[in-house]
Amino acid sequence: MEPRKTIYLDHAATSFPKPEKVKQAVLDHFERYSASPGRSGHSMSLAASRSLFDARETIAAFFHVDDSRKVIFTRNVTESLNLAIYGMVREGDHVVTTSMEHNSVMRPLRDLEARGIIQLTVVSSSPEGLADIQGLARAVQSGNPRLLVVNHASNVTGTLVDLKRIAEIKGSAYLLVDAAQTAGSIPIHLDSLDVDLFAFTGHKALQGPQGTGGLILKTGQEPLLPLMQGGTGSHSEFEQQPDFLPDRFESGTPNGCGFAGLAAGISAVEEWSIPALREHEKKMTERLLEGLLSMDRIHVLGPRDPDKQTAVLSFQVDGISPSDVGFQLDREFGICVRTGLHCAPAAHRTIGTFPQGTVRISMGMTNSMADVEAALEALEWIISR
Ligand code: ALA
Repeated sequence: MEPRKTIYLDHAATSFPKPEKVKQAVLDHFERYSASPGRSGHSMSLAASRSLFDARETIAAFFHVDDSRKVIFTRNVTESLNLAIYGMVREGDHVVTTSMEHNSVMRPLRDLEARGIIQLTVVSSSPEGLADIQGLARAVQSGNPRLLVVNHASNVTGTLVDLKRIAEIKGSAYLLVDAAQTAGSIPIHLDSLDVDLFAFTGHKALQGPQGTGGLILKTGQEPLLPLMQGGTGSHSEFEQQPDFLPDRFESGTPNGCGFAGLAAGISAVEEWSIPALREHEKKMTERLLEGLLSMDRIHVLGPRDPDKQTAVLSFQVDGISPSDVGFQLDREFGICVRTGLHCAPAAHRTIGTFPQGTVRISMGMTNSMADVEAALEALEWIISR
């Protein structure tokens, strides 16, 4: 009997399968120059440093950043957001955010609020997950915040946020963008966006390995404090952390294999081309939407418009819990989706699906229209049963 094909529709969580060149780059690094970069003077250590430098340059070029030293490597977007939030706010500061944020934003902010360090304003988005730009503008004008934090797209509904409009209303606040769901799937030109701190992950649409991410600084002059201090391989004669980029924020041996893989992932995305990828994802989203909306017992959340969202669709099925739908998709059809609250309880409260959550289908570069049709057929079978 033929082994059953897995249909992977969980790209908002992590992309799979990774491009062949990503696997090769990780393996090459591992086998040939996996020495400690920037620490020793031997040739293998120099090759490891060169590889890390190349990855930093690749990321800077991809996001249109003029100086790769402004790219700080982290383990994932959660670390990037924690670095930005804990590193930017001071006692007595005000922070403004939206109700569609992931817990990687909400938990650090709620922690700072609970400890009396910041005052937090959470501006409610619409039930479709659309940011309330006027409400954010009012909160910024009246509260004079240090930080304004928004995602570029929701991980629950895929709803896109217009960063140009957000930048117009940020006033004197530093704008921190969580681009976990868009880096690698939506064109992003940081040279023409007034974003002060840009947090991304490597393992989603950028096609890199898990354990890679980064925070990109607009000027490098932001009053950002490091989350960790320690060995950097530079200025080892001092017991104080170096004050230059990126070493000020990067302590400890970095994930060299991972970032070599991330550079290869970005090169795969560039070969595909982001505009072509976006078109492909929009077509799949359109067909999935059309199919889901035609099924009586399915209720689709979010903007229901491929132009206003990423290739992420959340829905509920009358009479069947999201986890049961997800279980049946996996067990009966080999279809991988994510169900529940997606680490974003505030977003689910906003769209009215807390606490049961939703079934989330999220598509990526390696999916085809046949995968969408298979998911729709499977859902029809689950509903009719
Ligand atoms: N935040 C990721 C998701 O939405 C893991 O699945």
